[in-house]
Amino acid sequence: MSLLQYKNVSMHFGGLRATDNVSFEVKENEIVGLIGPNGAGKTTLFAMASGFLSPTHGQIWFRDKRIDRLTAPDICEAGLVRTYQIVRPFGEMTVLENVMIGAFLHCRSTGRAREQAMRVVERVGLGPRAAQVAHTLTLAGRKRLEVAKALATQPKLLLLDEVMAGLNVVEITEMLDLVRSLRDDGVSVLVIEHNMQAIMRLSDRIIVVHHGQKIADGEPEQVASSAEVIAAYLGDQYKGHHAHA
Ligand SMILES: Nc1ncnc2c1ncn2[C@@H]1O[C@H](COP(=O)(O)OP(=O)(O)OP(=O)(O)O)[C@@H](O)[C@H]1O
Ligand SMILES: [Mg+2]
Repeated sequence: MSLLQYKNVSMHFGGLRATDNVSFEVKENEIVGLIGPNGAGKTTLFAMASGFLSPTHGQIWFRDKRIDRLTAPDICEAGLVRTYQIVRPFGEMTVLENVMIGAFLHCRSTGRAREQAMRVVERVGLGPRAAQVAHTLTLAGRKRLEVAKALATQPKLLLLDEVMAGLNVVEITEMLDLVRSLRDDGVSVLVIEHNMQAIMRLSDRIIVVHHGQKIADGEPEQVASSAEVIAAYLGDQYKGHHAHA
């Protein structure tokens, strides 16, 4: 069943077409990768689905409800939440307190929010760090905290924006295991990632965007062998492309 649908979506910033007539969907239980060069429009697609930007044209649907004119809190309440490319925890608060902010969406009492948040903190492997002040975490820890903050809102669909950027090989493998395991909890995932090996291993399907347009949508092997994708993106992989921490 279809969970998220972009229908002919465009986002224009003045003369710049950050998103240009894009359509695709994410189905229930899917892990879908979203790739493309820097500036291709990936984060813009996330911002529109999560209520931070309103598309110039087109519609976005989530679980049979049109969401492209809803606010971020309403979309979050409906079960769709994003993480941010640039991680910004509330640095002076503890890991647990950061995650409690998300938990308050569905928990009225502080006690319930704390319990729910603690479960999520343990779920992402930050249990031993729960009482630690957030800014003292390593980058890998802060990336996990981003995932935990989002999971605490109990989403059906999680949008992950470069949660593996800047991590070492071991940390990437751990993050891949975590993201895969979310599916067992009934959470579907749309994930932006520049690490090609990681995204190919993780995704059931991959969408490629370039200059705001969708240029491929298919199984990882199929997308990786597309001449258009190689010309637009994969051919550049080792030539000074950069990801953000
Ligand atoms: N709020 C905004 N106002 C004006 N231009 C914007 C805005 N947000 C994004 N852009 C522009 O839209 C284009 C797409 O940006 P976006 O951040 O979606 O790319 P991206 O694919 O996520 O890139 P990266 O891989 O570097 O994160 C870029 O040219 C960017 O400068
Ligand atoms: Mg981006």
